[in-house]
Amino acid sequence: KAGLKYFGAATDTPGFRERAGHESAYAQYDQIMWDSGEFGQTTPTNGQKWTFVEPTRGGFNYTEGEVVTSLAKKNGMYLRCHALVWHSQLAAWVEQGTWTKDELRQIIVDHITNVAGHWKGQCYAWDVVNEALNEDGTYRESVFYNVLGEEYLKLAFKTAHQVDPKAKLYYNDYNLEWPSAKTEGAQRIVKMLKAEGIRIDGVGLQAHLVAESAPTIDQHIDAIRGFAKLGVEVALTELDIRMTMPATDVNLAQQRSAYKNLVGACVQVCGCIGVTIWDFYDPFSWIPYVFPAEGAGLLWFEDFSKHPAYDGVVEALTNK
Ligand code: G3I
Repeated sequence: KAGLKYFGAATDTPGFRERAGHESAYAQYDQIMWDSGEFGQTTPTNGQKWTFVEPTRGGFNYTEGEVVTSLAKKNGMYLRCHALVWHSQLAAWVEQGTWTKDELRQIIVDHITNVAGHWKGQCYAWDVVNEALNEDGTYRESVFYNVLGEEYLKLAFKTAHQVDPKAKLYYNDYNLEWPSAKTEGAQRIVKMLKAEGIRIDGVGLQAHLVAESAPTIDQHIDAIRGFAKLGVEVALTELDIRMTMPATDVNLAQQRSAYKNLVGACVQVCGCIGVTIWDFYDPFSWIPYVFPAEGAGLLWFEDFSKHPAYDGVVEALTNK
């Protein structure tokens, strides 16, 4: 696929909210996900997040994550692992605690040691820290930042590298797909870690875009180049491009162009190594839960017909 290591799709397990009520779609869905050859990579959409893997302190549970990671292994797919340190879907016992610096350092080290240790050698990449920035490029308030400041990022990346030296270590965030103060903030994180001799291998651009107002391909190229020039690889890690419903010929055409531009920018910039869409089947998307008036962000409709954007992606991947 035009110099990319992979084109993939994140997926979840039947137990998750987005799947409820769609049992009749599972067989066709699984055929596309695992047997069709459409995808060479996957990411557990939820199953490796703190709230699922360490719901109580020291009580590790890999069941949900394993459903997806075992299928990735069985199907010979690259696996992106998501996410070690994130303020959202964080187990309540961490978020609601009042921690000293040393206590929270220990909590982070124990979490990463156990979780990255459990999947050691299986993850092409870990999203080590997810969404640490505000839109203006300053650090987001979280239990991690409020207690440890910037140090939590250093500790997370250092520990992840010690535990799984083979995994590529990524900083992952959204709204990094065009030049902005937030994009500069992410560049600052890369430079800070490298300046301290701490391993960081990549930056994940989540790429949750809006079809009616997507950036230009040049803006995408500038943003991707801005990271690649720092000596890290780049990946589109959670790509979906939502639209105000209902889907029409007009917004579907806008979506097609937006997918082609962003995937095309990744193909064009040396150092952008992969694309992951954030599930592939519209009914399993997170979007309507968060943006009730929007949806249809992926490449397959509920009836399993393909969006026009699918052809846009093929054109981008085959340099048409
Ligand atoms: O598993 C519980 C279930 O037991 C419970 O009955 C149900 C009640 O609503 O909730 C279920 O958990 C839900 C979980 O998805 C699994 O389905 C949570 O409520 C729901 O909030 C959660 O949404 C996920 C969201 O992250 C949380 O922020 C989405 O599936 C997931 O696609 C989305 O993904 C994030 C990335 O991880 C980071 N980047 C942004 C992206 C979109 O928000």
